[in-house]
Amino acid sequence: MAQLFHPAANTVARVMVLCAFTGPIVALLVGSAITRSSFNTNVGVPLAQPVPFSHEHHAVELGIDCRYCHTDVERSPNPGLPSSEICMSCHSQIWTDSPLLKPVRDSYRENKPLVWNQVNWVPRFVYFPHDIHVARGISCNNCHGPIQKMMITYKGKAFFMVFCLNCHRQPEKFLAPPQFVWQLYQDIQRYGDRVDPTGKDGLTPREYALAEGKYYENQGADLVEGERLKKEYHIHTVQITNCSVCHH
Ligand code: HEC
Ligand code: HEC
Ligand code: HEC
Ligand code: HEC
Ligand code: HEC
Repeated sequence: MAQLFHPAANTVARVMVLCAFTGPIVALLVGSAITRSSFNTNVGVPLAQPVPFSHEHHAVELGIDCRYCHTDVERSPNPGLPSSEICMSCHSQIWTDSPLLKPVRDSYRENKPLVWNQVNWVPRFVYFPHDIHVARGISCNNCHGPIQKMMITYKGKAFFMVFCLNCHRQPEKFLAPPQFVWQLYQDIQRYGDRVDPTGKDGLTPREYALAEGKYYENQGADLVEGERLKKEYHIHTVQITNCSVCHH
């Protein structure tokens, strides 16, 4: 009897069956890769600003405390951006005629705020307060990446819901004493990227990871401390994973 199908048809059928199964998976993977790529979230992409302000220069090389410019970061939900007056506290004396600083001088003289382009944001239906996170020792770098290395500021992390929840489900892996937030930058300034696991003459492994913008989960003594702090602050994961905490 003549063959009903050419042997090659078998291969074609197999490929078609395979495509039917993998097609949706591939589409999903491509879809989530697109939403998660820097194309969509702009993670790691320096954002052009009216003045090329460098955190590397000001926060580490000159050692200016974050709170000098982001004055409300410990006290209010919103850290705020510095007024031109704050810049002029130095730039009325240093680099006074740099063309790069002209927008700052103009804004100061005309008493019109300089409009910076916003790098980080969450959608309007999400509530994010800074003060409580900073008071719990969560490093700025945990959420903003290696800010002290940025010549031009870029977004360090994508604020997908799972990013917030991952910490809210197990905060002990991230908690630290409040002063740790500021200690990190003082130590980076002092030690550069020299590491000393004891932290006596270099960065601790936790500081090093955060300085590099890596994702660090407390281990060893840090984790023991994290668990203690969680109890001390009466943090209940059931409470902070409740939808209404972030979506009022
Ligand atoms: C001398 C002033 C100054 C200091 C000190 C400073 N910043 Fe900034 N920061 C700015 C200015 C101006 C902007 C807005 C322009 C930009 O995005 O670069 C900014 C922007 C930011 C942003 C992005 C804001 C957005 O639009 O989402 C983050 C995050 C940030 N700073 C964190 C820090 C941290 C952390 C420190 C301490 C290590 C720090 N800053 C120290 C002036 C400062
Ligand atoms: C505590 C003092 C201080 C403050 C506050 C400060 N700066 Fe500076 N800034 C400096 C110094 C010092 C330099 C230059 C040093 C060098 O080049 O080595 C500098 C350099 C700069 C430069 C580079 C200028 C050039 O021509 O290369 C820019 C741009 C700048 N600052 C922007 C700002 C802005 C914007 C603010 C406010 C958000 C600000 N600075 C606040 C001290 C300060
Ligand atoms: C737990 C995560 C987290 C930590 C820790 C954190 N931030 Fe933020 N930051 C965010 C998010 C999320 C936004 C966007 C907020 C919004 O859209 O309302 C933001 C926005 C900002 C902005 C922009 C505000 C504006 O008005 O444009 C600045 C400046 C900033 N953060 C500075 C800091 C500094 C300085 C620290 C450390 C002292 C810090 N952040 C710690 C998550 C964090
Ligand atoms: C690295 C850890 C960490 C990350 C990341 C984080 N949080 Fe939190 N957040 C905490 C901790 C810890 C608390 C509980 C503080 C307490 O109650 O003492 C908290 C509390 C809160 C609260 C409750 C504040 C209050 O007044 O009770 C809100 C709202 C919140 N976080 C929103 C967010 C959002 C939105 C994100 C993501 C953009 C986020 N958090 C990311 C650690 C984190
Ligand atoms: C710790 C803070 C936090 C908690 C708790 C939280 N969310 Fe969200 N949620 C977010 C953030 C941040 C986004 C924005 C994500 C983005 O821009 O991609 C978001 C986005 C969403 C969205 C929009 C779709 C999406 O995924 O972007 C929905 C729907 C949503 N949340 C529902 C919920 C529900 C239901 C719960 C409770 C089971 C919940 N959320 C708990 C922070 C939170």
